[in-house]
Amino acid sequence: MCGIVCYVGSKPAKPILLKGLKQLEYRGYDSSGFAIQNGDQIECHRAAGKIAELEKKLNGLDIKGSMGIAHTRWATHGEPTEENAHPHRDNDENVFVIHNGIIENFYALKKRLEKDGVVFRSETDTEVLAHLISLNFDGSLSEAVRKTMSQVEGTFGMAVINRRSPGEIVIARRGSPLIIGVSEDGHFAASDVAAMVRYTNKVVHLQDNELATLTREDFSMSTAQAKPVERSAETVEWRAEDTELNGFPHYMLKEIYEQPETIKNAMRGRLETGEGVPKLGGIMPVWDRLKECRHMVIVACGTSYYAGCVGRYIFEKLTEIDVDVELASEFRYRKLNFAPNTFVIAISQSGETADTLAAIREAKRKGASLLGIVNVVGSSISRETEAGVYNHAGPEIGVASTKIFTSQLTILVLLAILLGRHQNLSLTEGVEVIHALEALSDQVGTVLSQANHIEAIAEKYFNYNNWLFLGRKYNYPIAMEGALKLKEISYIHAEGYPAGEMKHGPIALISPEMPTVAIVPRDEMYEKMISNIQEVKSRRGPVIAITTLGDDRIKEIADDVIEIPPTLSFLNPILAAVACQLLSYYCANFLNRDIDMPRNLAKSVTVE
Ligand code: G6P
Repeated sequence: MCGIVCYVGSKPAKPILLKGLKQLEYRGYDSSGFAIQNGDQIECHRAAGKIAELEKKLNGLDIKGSMGIAHTRWATHGEPTEENAHPHRDNDENVFVIHNGIIENFYALKKRLEKDGVVFRSETDTEVLAHLISLNFDGSLSEAVRKTMSQVEGTFGMAVINRRSPGEIVIARRGSPLIIGVSEDGHFAASDVAAMVRYTNKVVHLQDNELATLTREDFSMSTAQAKPVERSAETVEWRAEDTELNGFPHYMLKEIYEQPETIKNAMRGRLETGEGVPKLGGIMPVWDRLKECRHMVIVACGTSYYAGCVGRYIFEKLTEIDVDVELASEFRYRKLNFAPNTFVIAISQSGETADTLAAIREAKRKGASLLGIVNVVGSSISRETEAGVYNHAGPEIGVASTKIFTSQLTILVLLAILLGRHQNLSLTEGVEVIHALEALSDQVGTVLSQANHIEAIAEKYFNYNNWLFLGRKYNYPIAMEGALKLKEISYIHAEGYPAGEMKHGPIALISPEMPTVAIVPRDEMYEKMISNIQEVKSRRGPVIAITTLGDDRIKEIADDVIEIPPTLSFLNPILAAVACQLLSYYCANFLNRDIDMPRNLAKSVTVE
């Protein structure tokens, strides 16, 4: 989705903004642009396509100025052309605006402005902001932005500069994240910490209906109602090198390989092995209510949703809590009627997914308590939930989620043990699960050590256009996630199915042209999965089995086998997921796909 990065300080703005834009590429975009101010001059450049296209246009240009605003656009209103790329400007070319979000009343505003003689140059909703701010300007840029905030409906994170207000950038937020970065060389603003983490790790989160004025020396914040806001800077734990490739060809592969570490990070300082109980400080504010909870609803989107689906089985195994899992985008169309003391858990890597945010707001309205499992510290979901658990997994840059998925699963296990130990889970059982968790990181390493073997399997199958993924119980959501991963990055059509449903439809598709990935570890579902694999084989469908190390029986049936180390049955999904990630990655690599930025996808989906 769209990205914002801004700088005002003592250094030349152009390289800082271009570097920042590149750090935002992973969010998904289809055009980019920036405006740099030098005194009362503003130079603006925009281009359709990748940032490389923008750079081509700048070849040889000496752009002076140490303040500016820059944007990557993911088209919503109007095609991804240069005219529709941000920044947008007013007719006198005084005010330049970049914007994330959607101005819902833009059509009515546009018609009114056109009647007053304003000429529109783009098809975007954003352009109304530039015209309104210009018309509202009466000596103070922040007051012009404040007045404009009262005229527009919808969501925005915006940044504005004005030829008549040299030295200041005004930013404003309603529903679309903006963070201020504080450094000795000036101030930054960005929609995402990744864009400025190489310059500073001191950040201040702007909240909804707030605006801020940034200058080289200072920044000041206030509410839309002009009430001053004081908020001290926080230090983010992400490091500049976390956003680099560090020798890997793709972020996705780097992040797949980070999993032994990110799984450890999800547990670091949180295990009390002897007691068989994890410590989760972030949920203590609600602990008295949570330990009595008997009904939970997990809401999430995409890969995070599949983590929730595994979570349901884990909670049902380790606790006495009934769990529903809902796609956040559908959740609010349900007639919500929560039992007393229901907890809604939002799972989100970015903490900014619009549908998940909307879901928790609706749940709160209906009286549920809110927990979050979130990677991005200070993100909207982390702030709007009452309590929660952070992944501490560092930035995930590849659009297709990998390391956060296994981290989410790890945290769901921790939460389930903690609650289970206050219900019917015995000390022995708690200790057993914790021991299994402690072994997990090395076991993920064992799966990763088979990368060459998995690459060879991918080479055999990457030209097949349709795939089926099958699993049961804990591994049914892994079948869904495995299929999603393959679709996302290789554009191969894949379906994930609970294996028991195969006979009700997908079996009609089985043929020598359609490989099936069967997730069949040695667990309570093993025999039933073997029967399903036989059904595929008797229709001459090729089978790639993901199974437990040393399972010779499966080797006689399946065409290809990927082995995962033995663990508790509800931890198999973590190991099987890593195998699926590598398989998808190598298929996409053989197909020369844009793995980290697959077409049409966005890392952080901030529109509904
Ligand atoms: C997008 C991403 C997915 C992610 C989903 C939910 O679709 O491409 O990788 O799983 O959003 O994102 P969240 O940040 O809420 O986990």
